[in-house]
Amino acid sequence: MHILVVGTGYVGLVTGACFAEMGHTVTCLDIDASKIDLLQQGVIPFYEPGLQEMVLRNAASKRLLFTSSYSEAVLSASVCFLAVPTPSDSLGACDLSYFLSAAKRIAEEMDGYRLIVNKSTVPPGTAKQIAELMGTILDLRGVDFSFDVVSNPEFLKEGSAVNDCLKPDRIVLGIDNPSITDTMKEIYSPFTINHDRILIMDTSSAEMTKYAANAMLASRISFMNELSGLCEKVGADIHQVRIGIGSDARIGYHFLYAGMGYGGSCFPKDLKALQSIARSHHYEMPLLNAIEEVNERQKKVLHHKILDYFSSRGGILKKTIAIWGLAFKPDTDDIRQAPSLELIQSLLDHGATLRLYDPAAMDNAKKILAPLPQISWCSDEIEAATGADAIALVTEWKQFRFVDFSKILPKMNSAVFFDGRNQYRPAEMQAKGIHYVGIGTPSPLFQEAL
Ligand SMILES: NC(=O)c1ccc[n+]([C@@H]2O[C@H](COP(=O)([O-])OP(=O)(O)OC[C@H]3O[C@@H](n4cnc5c(N)ncnc54)[C@H](O)[C@@H]3O)[C@@H](O)[C@H]2O)c1
Repeated sequence: MHILVVGTGYVGLVTGACFAEMGHTVTCLDIDASKIDLLQQGVIPFYEPGLQEMVLRNAASKRLLFTSSYSEAVLSASVCFLAVPTPSDSLGACDLSYFLSAAKRIAEEMDGYRLIVNKSTVPPGTAKQIAELMGTILDLRGVDFSFDVVSNPEFLKEGSAVNDCLKPDRIVLGIDNPSITDTMKEIYSPFTINHDRILIMDTSSAEMTKYAANAMLASRISFMNELSGLCEKVGADIHQVRIGIGSDARIGYHFLYAGMGYGGSCFPKDLKALQSIARSHHYEMPLLNAIEEVNERQKKVLHHKILDYFSSRGGILKKTIAIWGLAFKPDTDDIRQAPSLELIQSLLDHGATLRLYDPAAMDNAKKILAPLPQISWCSDEIEAATGADAIALVTEWKQFRFVDFSKILPKMNSAVFFDGRNQYRPAEMQAKGIHYVGIGTPSPLFQEAL
C-alpha cells in the first residue's frame, strides 16, 4: 500500500518511518522545503532516539520518500495521513488552519477515491468538518471522487516515539463508515501481530479520546505537584507518598512524579483546547481549569526555592546558577513550552548569571534565548557547574542522575543543588556534603525552620 504522510514533524516523520519499516511504501510531505531537503540528504531535523537509523534504512531501500509537492504525493498514494500542527490560537482554541489547508490541498489534487486518516489532535467534530470542506472543493472542481475520513489520534511520546509507534498500547480508530474498517486494520496489521490493539469507535469519540488522555495525565501531574507543596509544609516526603499510593492497583505508579510542572507541545495546548471546547458549549469544567492553574504555579516553584535560599546569602544578583537540562523532558530536543525557559527568564530578571547545558536541546534553545553576556552555553554538565553557586536540575536526563559529584563539587563556588525533578534523595546528597533542595521532599530549609 502506498501511504502519504502530510507533515514531517515529530509525529509525521516517526509514523512515516515506522510504516515504511513495516513494509509499506511511504511518501512524507512537508511544506517546509528546507526540511525536505535535509531529509533527502539523510539529515533528521530533530532528535528522536532510534529514528535516524530507521529513516536512513528505509530511504535507502526506497520505501521512504520525501517531497514538498502535493500534486506528486497525492497522486501516488491511496491513503493520506495528516500529522500537521494544531497549535493554540490567541484565545486558546485549537487552530485548525494548517490542518484545513492540508485537507484542502489533498482535495485539490486527488484524482479518485482517497482515505484520509487524521493523526493530529483536533476537537470532536473535525473529521466531519474536513469532510465538508473536501466535499465543497471537489464540487468546485466539478468532480465526484469519493473519500472517507478516519480519526486516528496519536499517543506516541517524544523521547520514545519510535518504540511507541512500533508497539502502541492501543490504536484508536474513529470510523463513521464501517466499510473502511478492514482497510484500516490491514494498514495496521503489522503492528498488531502480537495481539489486537485496535479500538474502533465513532470519529468524535476518537477525537475526544486524545484530549481526555492528555487531560487525565496532566491531572495526575498537577495533583502530585499540589500535594508536594503540602508535603513540604508538614514535613512529609512526596516520594514516599507516591510509592504509598502507587502500590494501589487502582492508582498505579505512572505519571505520579512531582516536579517543575509539565510543558511540551501537547499538554498545555490540548488542555487549553479542551477548555475552549467546553466554553463554546457553555459547560463548566473547574477541574480542567485547576490542572492548568496548579501547573502555572508549579513552573515557578524552583525559582522561588532558589530566591529563598539566596535571600539570606546576599541575594541572587550576580550569583551563577548552572542549569542542567533545557528540553521539556529527557530524550528529546523539543523545548516548546519547556519549564526551563520560564526559570531562565526569571533568574535573568533577578540578575543571575547562567551556565546552560542540555544533551540535545542546545541548538533549539539558542534559537529562542537571545545571546546575552549573562548566559554561557556549556559542553557538558561539569562545565556548566564550574564556577557555579548552585546547580538547578531541570530536565531528568539519565546522565544527570549518575554524575560523579566528587569531580564537580571542587569546581563549584558552593555545593548547592536544586532538584526540579526529584532525581536524588535528600539523605544521599546530604551525605555528599551537598545542600539539597527537592520538590516536596524534606529539605534543609524545612529542618532549619523547625
Ligand atoms: N509531538 C508529540 O509528541 C505529539 C504526540 C501526539 C500527537 N501530537 C499531535 O500531532 C500533530 C503534529 O505534531 P508534531 O509535534 O509532529 O508537530 P511538528 O510541529 O513537529 O511538525 C508538523 C510539521 O507539519 C508541517 N506542516 C504544517 N502545515 C503543513 C501543511 N499544510 N502541509 C504539509 N506540512 C505541513 C510543518 O512544517 C512541520 O514540519 C499535532 O496535532 C500534535 O498535537 C503530537
